[in-house]
Amino acid sequence: MNLLAKLLAHQSIRRFAVPVAIVLGVLVLGVSAPVVAQDLSDNETCMECHADTERGPPKNPDRPQVHTADGGFNVEDHEMWSCNDCHDYITEIPHPDDVLGSEVDCTNCHDEAPTK
Ligand code: HEC
Ligand code: HEC
Ligand code: HEC
Repeated sequence: MNLLAKLLAHQSIRRFAVPVAIVLGVLVLGVSAPVVAQDLSDNETCMECHADTERGPPKNPDRPQVHTADGGFNVEDHEMWSCNDCHDYITEIPHPDDVLGSEVDCTNCHDEAPTK
């Protein structure tokens, strides 16, 4: 497990770890992989692999579902964001195993997590 993955594995410091991880990621990419740097903020990058996968319902049944089954959005206001504005725990491609099952934190943008 590398340092970033370890940092991100700790839920309690995730808020802090994500900006740190982004800064570290930029540094690491800048030093070791100037040619293959993938732009994680570009939705096209994500859609290369996720265009044809079906989106399931949220784990929390009280939460309104953000995506439509085909990967679109139920709420128009969500369309303008980049995938990583919500999936901020996706910091590497391929993703490390421990991102599977991570949840989007609605309160990054909403005062309270919306309920149905
Ligand atoms: C090279 C292919 C590839 C790219 C590019 C890619 N992903 Fe993934 N992603 C995967 C695979 C494989 C999985 C695991 C299988 C699955 O659950 O669909 C996955 C899983 C996920 C999951 C589900 C996690 C879970 O809880 O099951 C999310 C969310 C996700 N990716 C978001 C993104 C975002 C956002 C981007 C763009 C920044 C992105 N992915 C780019 C291949 C990719
Ligand atoms: C407004 C926040 C938001 C944005 C923007 C967003 N997502 Fe999601 N995504 C979610 C939430 C919340 C879930 C959990 C299921 C649900 O509520 O739809 C999810 C689930 C997923 C999953 C897992 C689906 C499954 O059933 O395993 C993938 C893959 C994914 N999103 C990819 C993307 C990609 C690619 C983009 C950019 C085009 C994107 N998301 C943009 C909030 C968002
Ligand atoms: C990256 C920013 C962002 C994230 C993260 C985000 N939203 Fe939103 N969402 C918005 C914006 C902007 C609006 C439109 C303004 C408003 O209503 O607050 C909105 C509106 C909504 C609406 C329609 C209006 C309302 O409040 O009923 C729902 C439902 C919603 N979001 C659900 C969710 C859920 C559920 C999550 C977490 C899984 C989530 N959003 C995460 C940005 C975001």
